[in-house]
Amino acid sequence: MVGIDIGSNSVKVVELARKGGNYQLENIGESMLPSGAITGKSVSRGDVVSGAVSNLVSRIGIKAKRVVIGISGEAVASRIVSIPRMFLRKDMEKLVPDLVNTNLSRNISGVNYSYTPLFPRNGRSKEVPVLIAAVSKKTAQGYKSSVSSAGLRARIVDIDAMALSNAYAVSSAVRGEKVALVNIGASVVNLSVLDDGIPLILRDISLGGQWVTLRLMEKFKITYEEAERIKCSIKGYGRYEDITSIFADFAAHAADEIKTVLDESGGGLARVILSGGSSRIATMAHTLGEATGVPVESSNPFRNIDVSDSRFDPEYIQHLAPKMAVAVGLALRGL
Ligand SMILES: Nc1ncnc2c1ncn2[C@@H]1O[C@H](COP(=O)(O)OP(=O)(O)OP(=O)(O)O)[C@@H](O)[C@H]1O
Ligand SMILES: [Mg+2]
Repeated sequence: MVGIDIGSNSVKVVELARKGGNYQLENIGESMLPSGAITGKSVSRGDVVSGAVSNLVSRIGIKAKRVVIGISGEAVASRIVSIPRMFLRKDMEKLVPDLVNTNLSRNISGVNYSYTPLFPRNGRSKEVPVLIAAVSKKTAQGYKSSVSSAGLRARIVDIDAMALSNAYAVSSAVRGEKVALVNIGASVVNLSVLDDGIPLILRDISLGGQWVTLRLMEKFKITYEEAERIKCSIKGYGRYEDITSIFADFAAHAADEIKTVLDESGGGLARVILSGGSSRIATMAHTLGEATGVPVESSNPFRNIDVSDSRFDPEYIQHLAPKMAVAVGLALRGL
């Protein structure tokens, strides 16, 4: 199955197959998007996005047409609510529109909504946690059209924070642990807090590495592309202190916002697993660890997935891995 993660900074594709009891990497790739193709987590330039998707899937040799895509940011609202077990059997369909209205403050007519009961292991309680999610129809349509113009069909539209949780379930789940998954991208932080694999919080914060790009552009009077280049490899540019102080400001600001959400989960986190391109910003992991008092690890979504050394350069995979957690989770969702 193919997962396509259309981010503000790049399109990421992962194709996984199930061989015996194992998952296997079939294809992987990334294609950068120019500034303005995705704005505010909505597709602004459908032609540019579909061109990038189409070039990428043909370059890496993906033949499948059915794909899973993900959405995050303000177009998505989700909450976990407790529902009496007896309602799940018969009344849920009737209840959901009301739940979306009251819990997610979304007008039913403008969103696609869904509900997923999250049955805890050994759970026999009268109430069951249920994930209700609503996605703006207009935003979802923008993403779906971009993949359909590339000759593909979005079979499932997932939410990125849920995809992160699915990637964790395969790559690093530890029975009984309470964990936070934090994916820091270009314009959004996807956050998922799980307790023994069951989501407690799925949330997006509108903040990402573009904040740094914009500061660099302002400070040095440079283009978006130059600022992106400097960010990813600051060696040789000079003005090292100016750059690292912008990095430090971002890390402090992001850590603060992330901590506010994590505090809602009531403590007891065993670890934070960090992913996304902006998790590479120097001091990000350290600053987040200091702010939360929880050990921070870097995500490797390919742990427990067979990756052939002869087909894929291990260095390339290692380089891409932290950025690929959402795409891996999307591909897993379709298997
Ligand atoms: N080595 C690096 N150091 C600092 N920042 C980096 C590095 N590599 C990538 N980034 C930044 O990470 C961001 C891209 O990360 P990612 O691919 O996770 O985002 P995205 O999925 O495209 O965006 P979003 O999900 O927020 O819409 C960009 O802002 C990029 O500049
Ligand atoms: Mg992303």
